[in-house]
Amino acid sequence: MMPDITLISGSTLGSAEYVAEHLEEKLVQAGFSTKMLHGAELDELTQEGIWLIVTSTHGAGEIPDNLQPLFEQIEQQNADLSKIQFGAIGLGSKEYDTFCGAIKTADRILQDHGAKRIGDRLEIDITEHEIPEDPAEIWLEEWIILLNKD
Ligand SMILES: Cc1cc2nc3c(=O)[nH]c(=O)nc-3n(C[C@H](O)[C@H](O)[C@H](O)COP(=O)(O)O)c2cc1C
Repeated sequence: MMPDITLISGSTLGSAEYVAEHLEEKLVQAGFSTKMLHGAELDELTQEGIWLIVTSTHGAGEIPDNLQPLFEQIEQQNADLSKIQFGAIGLGSKEYDTFCGAIKTADRILQDHGAKRIGDRLEIDITEHEIPEDPAEIWLEEWIILLNKD
């Protein structure tokens, strides 16, 4: 059966994965069924339902290597994502000009392909938040309220 929410993380050193896992726990506690993908390819995903993207940024504003295939495939295959709703969380550091570049790119690509974002994009500055799970958890509470309205 299709899970209520598919969490998709993009990470190089693990922080975004930990945030995604923490949010998965909270979603399960709130009664949602979930599936977790650390990194993803398009053919692993059902092209309908709700995705929660949690990704850090690497290189100069780039999507981490484990998440690049998904976004490349969405563009190359011109995927129809009009049955997808998604939440968007980025981790990054304000020390870089390309702060949270990965989630900005991911958000744009998903919307370009017809997906609808639920709620605001969250951009977590790790220089400000030593524990990125904290702002993510606060954002999630609001996101759950928006999900339940649909
Ligand atoms: C080599 C390198 C490049 C980075 N480039 C960026 C960047 O362009 N923009 C940004 O916001 N953060 C950048 N960061 C910060 C990471 O996104 C941040 O440390 C994040 O918490 C890493 O999460 P992860 O452990 O999931 O990979 C960079 C970090 C490293 C080590």
